[in-house]
Amino acid sequence: MLEAPGDFVTHDLSGAPLLVVRGDDGQVSAFLNVCRHRGTRVEQLPCGSGKKAFVCPYHSWSYARDGHLLGIPHQEGFGGIDKTERGLVRLPAGEAAGLVFVRASRAVSEVDAQLDARAFLGPLAADLEGFGLPRAHVYDARSYTKEMN
Ligand code: FES
Repeated sequence: MLEAPGDFVTHDLSGAPLLVVRGDDGQVSAFLNVCRHRGTRVEQLPCGSGKKAFVCPYHSWSYARDGHLLGIPHQEGFGGIDKTERGLVRLPAGEAAGLVFVRASRAVSEVDAQLDARAFLGPLAADLEGFGLPRAHVYDARSYTKEMN
């Protein structure tokens, strides 16, 4: 599902609005799907491919695949905003065995942003790799809401 740069998914069921995207370097990154201007949801779709930038539907601030703020229309009206301080909030993310893992709390550094999913899985990683998920294709997606404990 996240095969190529610009492929993305959004996800809300873990309690935080997530935007997960494959970057130009082939790595998966995760961000809060929240605009740094006034908090609008940046990406509305559940998934997509080949996205070059994410554009907020409210005032069109645009964000790169790596989360940095690309552009602010009519920037002269925003009095000295430092664009380097207004990128999407990065969350730790990593992948292993064709699965993406995201920690829904702000990454405090570039090192923290690289979640070691394989180490997290431990011996389970080898079993999961046996399923060949990276070679699988999504045929159909469904979600269910169940009363469970
Ligand atoms: S809330 Fe996103 S650009 Fe204004």
